[in-house]
Amino acid sequence: MAQYAAMRSIGAYVPKKVLSNSDLEKMVDTTDEWIIKRTGIKERHIAAKHESTSDMGAKAASLAIERSGIAKEDIDLVLCATVTPDYFNMPSTACIISKKLDITNVQAFDISAACSGFVYLLSIAKAFIESGMKKNILIIGAEKFSSIVDYTDRATCILFGDGAGAAIISATSDKKESIVDIHASADGTYADFLVTPAPGSVNPANQKMLDEKLNFVQMKGNETFKLAVKTLTQDVIEILESNNLQASDIPHFVPHQANYRIIKAVGDSLGMTKEQVVLTVDKYGNTSAASIPMAINDIYESGRLKEGDLMLLDTFGGGLTWASALLPFAGKTK
Ligand code: ACO
Repeated sequence: MAQYAAMRSIGAYVPKKVLSNSDLEKMVDTTDEWIIKRTGIKERHIAAKHESTSDMGAKAASLAIERSGIAKEDIDLVLCATVTPDYFNMPSTACIISKKLDITNVQAFDISAACSGFVYLLSIAKAFIESGMKKNILIIGAEKFSSIVDYTDRATCILFGDGAGAAIISATSDKKESIVDIHASADGTYADFLVTPAPGSVNPANQKMLDEKLNFVQMKGNETFKLAVKTLTQDVIEILESNNLQASDIPHFVPHQANYRIIKAVGDSLGMTKEQVVLTVDKYGNTSAASIPMAINDIYESGRLKEGDLMLLDTFGGGLTWASALLPFAGKTK
């Protein structure tokens, strides 16, 4: 019998500490008004010093497991998307999260696709399940972006926040519950739009890295903005067309939460109403791979998401990478 992949649950973790725009006004030459006008961000949450990406990922994952009703022992793959792993080389953050959750002796690995990480993971989980290799997959998007942000650079430090989101993707024989479609792509031509130059094989960790602040994120903001609007819009048009759907058929459009102006431009050009578009960028900022699952968790916790509701995910990030996904929420809702 054919085996399909269904999203059974969602969970998220938001660190306690809030970094508001007025806090940033005291750190760099910026204003609350400028940040809100250019990005829509009012505040973002920042992990505590002792709190790692895996700590946040494990908390989000715990909630996703609990809400799925699936026993921990039945999880057969753990995947984590992050560009701010606990350790830059090894072990993977997925291995550390597995250990923290006491899910050992199952395959676990990380992927790096920046803000597109969670939707990339969905495509991997779908393939593993449809091929019959796995039955219950824990996917996690977790970021401690504050660990790679230069808090003296006003062009980047206002944008990013920390957090984590997770979901359980399980096998089902019921096609109605299954992930409908995923489109994912990349173009390394634009690799220098978003980059942390060190540490890595190009620039191994050394004094130069520290002197030149190569360990912090660098971004071509304006160029990224333009390409984001174009790609995010095109992505949605293509996935809707190839599934014979209209924008009006989608109750929940969940775009990557990078900038309100990007989300508004994409939503408007697709004719989406305010009610369709999920917005969390004002309170969390850009949390990279955690942004999409944190946004889904928001509509889950507010009771807006109902069982079987169709979601359209749309994301874009460093690489450059981009991806969209159409899927119903196949878990129990509030
Ligand atoms: N406060 C005040 N002024 C600022 C600030 C700030 N925080 N940051 C920049 N400025 C200034 C600039 O210096 C510039 O001044 P100038 O005109 O005197 O030179 C002016 O504001 C305009 O700067 P721009 O960079 O052109 O501003 P823009 O409108 O493009 O907004 C922003 C900048 C918010 C970064 C925008 O370009 C953006 O959101 N880009 C996309 C980022 C993104 O989506 N990333 C997604 C992927 S993230 C990932 O994958 C991890």
